[in-house]
Amino acid sequence: MGLQWRDQLSVGNDLIDNDHKYLIEIINRAEASVEAHNRVKLSAVLDELGAYGKTHFEREELVAKAAGYPKADQLHESHSKLVADLARFKDGIGDTWNEDASTQFTSYLRGWLIEHVIKEDLPMKPWLVKHSPTFDPRR
Ligand SMILES: [Fe+2]
Repeated sequence: MGLQWRDQLSVGNDLIDNDHKYLIEIINRAEASVEAHNRVKLSAVLDELGAYGKTHFEREELVAKAAGYPKADQLHESHSKLVADLARFKDGIGDTWNEDASTQFTSYLRGWLIEHVIKEDLPMKPWLVKHSPTFDPRR
């Protein structure tokens, strides 16, 4: 079964939560391509994940700064590492594709998203909830 959004993952801002929900959707598509052993599809989905990840990270840094999160600058650094890490993962997929590799890919992708992308955002919540859930510094 694919990943599912749950309330505990909410950071208290709709813009960021909606991005995270969409990232989960992309990860689920990536996992489906892993299960289907479809490397071409996986590669395309990982490109989409990288591109949407970048858009999301920029948006998130903007929201964090505007919400007064004191560690907003460190977010950028950790985001750059996540982008580079994902690119390395994509390059390293390699030619062999056995059952072990499938399991590893799936746990890597889930870890990348849940452990690093979403759980590392949760410390922002006390600052984000001082604003409306619809807080959007671009408006
Ligand atoms: Fe995020």
